[in-house]
Amino acid sequence: MCGIIGYVGQRPALPILIDGLRRLEYRGYDSAGVALVDGDKLRVSKSAGRLSVLEQLLDFKATSTTGVGHTRWATHGAPTDANAHPHLDATGRIAVIHNGQIENASALRTYLERQGFVFRSETDTEALAQLISRFYQGNLEQAVRQALHEISGAYAIAVVCADEPGVIVAARNGGPLLIGVGKGEHLLASDAAAILAHTSQVVYLSDGEMARITADHVSLTTLDAMPVTKDVEEIEWSLDEIELSGYDHFMLKEITEQPAALENCLRGRIEPRAGAVHLGGLVDCTRELTRAKRFILTGCGTAWHAALVGEYLFEELIRTPTETEYASEFRYRNPVIDDGTVVIAVSQSGETADTLAALVEAKQRGAAVLGVVNVVGSSIARETDAGIYLHVGPEIGVASTKAFTAQVAVLAMMACYLGRRKHLSPAAASQFITALAQIPKQIADILERADQAKIVAERYCGMENWLYLGRGYNYPVALEGALKLKEISYIHAEGLPAAEMKHGPIALIHEGMPVVVIATAGSQYDRISNNIAQVRARGGSIIAVATEGDREIAKLAEHVLYVPDTIEPLQPLLTVVPLQLIAYHAALLRGCNVDKPRNLAKSVTVE
Ligand code: G6P
Repeated sequence: MCGIIGYVGQRPALPILIDGLRRLEYRGYDSAGVALVDGDKLRVSKSAGRLSVLEQLLDFKATSTTGVGHTRWATHGAPTDANAHPHLDATGRIAVIHNGQIENASALRTYLERQGFVFRSETDTEALAQLISRFYQGNLEQAVRQALHEISGAYAIAVVCADEPGVIVAARNGGPLLIGVGKGEHLLASDAAAILAHTSQVVYLSDGEMARITADHVSLTTLDAMPVTKDVEEIEWSLDEIELSGYDHFMLKEITEQPAALENCLRGRIEPRAGAVHLGGLVDCTRELTRAKRFILTGCGTAWHAALVGEYLFEELIRTPTETEYASEFRYRNPVIDDGTVVIAVSQSGETADTLAALVEAKQRGAAVLGVVNVVGSSIARETDAGIYLHVGPEIGVASTKAFTAQVAVLAMMACYLGRRKHLSPAAASQFITALAQIPKQIADILERADQAKIVAERYCGMENWLYLGRGYNYPVALEGALKLKEISYIHAEGLPAAEMKHGPIALIHEGMPVVVIATAGSQYDRISNNIAQVRARGGSIIAVATEGDREIAKLAEHVLYVPDTIEPLQPLLTVVPLQLIAYHAALLRGCNVDKPRNLAKSVTVE
């Protein structure tokens, strides 16, 4: 979604802002803009469309050393030049960039219009720019503070003023914002990826905090002007992790990275021989968790699919009732949270608005709240009582891949950790952990045969409707496989628990329709073989994901994508990989922009 970058220092700001915006592109956007403080003037350039369009408007000889830049993902108001950020006040001396949504913008607008302010865009942000201007009496920080007291809603903002060159004022309430600390310079960003080329030292702003940033000083305060002291933290990610490093696309890079990413995720946390799991993030709440009467796992998109695998894992290993809920439903439907309910938010970014709101709602109702999050210091990580980081490095590709496998791996470790403290025997835990330890190498084996998935994509990428079927642990994988295909190749795909097919969707099956069936060895094998027969009887083309060595399946399926054998609860970690690859190749063959799929954002920070 929208991205913020800011720079104040000794170097020309423009190239730094544009580089930052380029690194934010993966989040999704449809317009972009920059404001530079040039002498005692503001120079604002903005345009709908890609960054390359904006770049044509810019004068790269500009020497200004203070500026802000923004990528906008239109939610309210079309993606036009006028609606792009930065937004100026009527005098053209104050510029604002903003992520989030101001809820009382229309009332503010009416009030300001009555006072003679003229608006040039349809955005809520312009009302904020005008309001700051209304309060401005020579002190930008003070004017921003006063204006923020008048608004409600979620925001991360950066403001510059022609009368105060060398100053950026920033504030956060519900949108990520961090300050990069350099030598004689500071940066501001909504995402660490935007500034990592310049510094890995950061200060994270919390909700309700403001910052006045100059080249050599940052003063942090609350909205009520109380001073705030914060430690400078180190970003763990390396620059290499946010660059393509020779790959054509981030999605392929991240699929390929999965063996190493999972090694990192598991490192130091599992002891196969002893059947032990060490999760430092849970130590302080282990007692509460083992006594929990119910778990609710919540998330959105791919994270919700991982949570669904988690539900199966938790009930099998911990034997505690567990439900998985879409965060967007949970937050509004008056859920029953009784004593002993633990809510676990699963989120790669840690910033998804619905997941964050579900968590806050659960917390207010007295639940213990945990996070399974990738981005360190993210909003969900901060809101939770405890949690486990994925440790898989940044995920840039919009289609989530390595985060899914890591989320499942973390939930598997949690299930084993808590299971051992309840019903799971040491021998069963040891078998589970031994199997988990083999997963990275087994994914590497699957990746060596990636060409098989490409052959399937080549054969069927022209078909507009696909079905994905799975049972048990592989039912969430069917959902995930279908989501991957639709989000990047724009092919309609539906994932189903295989037995549900006969209650309606079977009517869709026609000659040659691709039906991906996850038919790995285990308790569901015979039943899923029956489902395959039902599809074949109606002319569907079977693409099976099966366990190595299963020759029978080859008699039933047009294509077989083999995965190594593992225990049933861990199969999703393997079966999802060929489906990620099919989606990737299908998207490429259809000429889709894999890393920038239409209408999608990497991190959905609005409702
Ligand atoms: C967006 C992304 C999905 C992701 C979902 C949840 O829709 O495009 O890939 O699964 O958000 O994101 P999160 O960061 O909470 O895991």
